Amino acid sequence: MNETILVLGASGQIGTELTEKLRSVYGKKQVIASDIRGGNAAIMASGPFEIIDATDKETILKTVKKYKVTQVYLLAAMLSATAEKYPQKAWNLNMNSLLAVLDLAKENHIKQVYWPSSIAVFGPTTPKENTPQKTIMEPSTVYGISKLSGEFWCNYYHKKYGVDVRSLRFPGIISWKSKPGGGTTDYAVDIYFKALEDGNFNCFLSENTRLPMMYMDDAVNATIQLMQAKSEAIKVRTSYNLAAIDFTPKEIFEEIKKHVPDFTITYNPDFRQQIADSWPSNINDSEARKDWNWKHQFDLAAITKDILINLKK
Ligand code: SER
Repeated sequence: MNETILVLGASGQIGTELTEKLRSVYGKKQVIASDIRGGNAAIMASGPFEIIDATDKETILKTVKKYKVTQVYLLAAMLSATAEKYPQKAWNLNMNSLLAVLDLAKENHIKQVYWPSSIAVFGPTTPKENTPQKTIMEPSTVYGISKLSGEFWCNYYHKKYGVDVRSLRFPGIISWKSKPGGGTTDYAVDIYFKALEDGNFNCFLSENTRLPMMYMDDAVNATIQLMQAKSEAIKVRTSYNLAAIDFTPKEIFEEIKKHVPDFTITYNPDFRQQIADSWPSNINDSEARKDWNWKHQFDLAAITKDILINLKK
């Protein structure tokens, strides 16, 4: 594997951990981290780092040429809750960055593109349980609209120009090394920090709101596995459904309480409740499991144990 990789959005929740893993797989110098701002000190120190606005095609191209980049992982995006506050800004960032990168691939400057989609492509009219790969998609959020449009751009560039772009519909991603910002599933990260810091968590979703979730380690492995699969194996060129676990705020609270017995929770749903209510409870990802052998490793008990051990250090 002789790849040189550019990560756009490397200071974000997924970008930070994905960059770290890619550097361990492909070599430190082979993975160029970039973001519009500086980020995790370890990421900035362990290999090349460039300041790049992911919507700025010329700067991306300069960097691609400078390092002879072969693959771009585009992680820069505005998430669901923030995008509801800044619709135009979200649309511009989420769409223009993707079109810039797809164009660079179309113009043969790079060979392969990774871009995450989301469960937000689904909406209130989508079947909530065991949501199929192909189903009704009428997203009700700006973020969902941008991800659904992006999926069809990916498919279009693949069919029309032969661009090798690959994508996963991520559920909520749970991590402890890097925190998310502006998402609706973020509560499932914050709850661990609050359990240890305050012993109480004020949840912005109601206790029985069930959402699909995944541990960061699984999300990073899925991404690399998808990118390393043979092109013929990738049958879905919009974006693959991807699943691991699903739970409610009450269930994650009960799991944490096993380790932090005095932990308490209050529920004060805000505008994010409506976003969560529009998304599926769990996802059917049989196509990913069949096409490129996707398997998740972490269930809620394993995630909770791992996070609490690490945060206590
Ligand atoms: N985690 C994202 C969000 O909540 C969903 O893709 O916005």
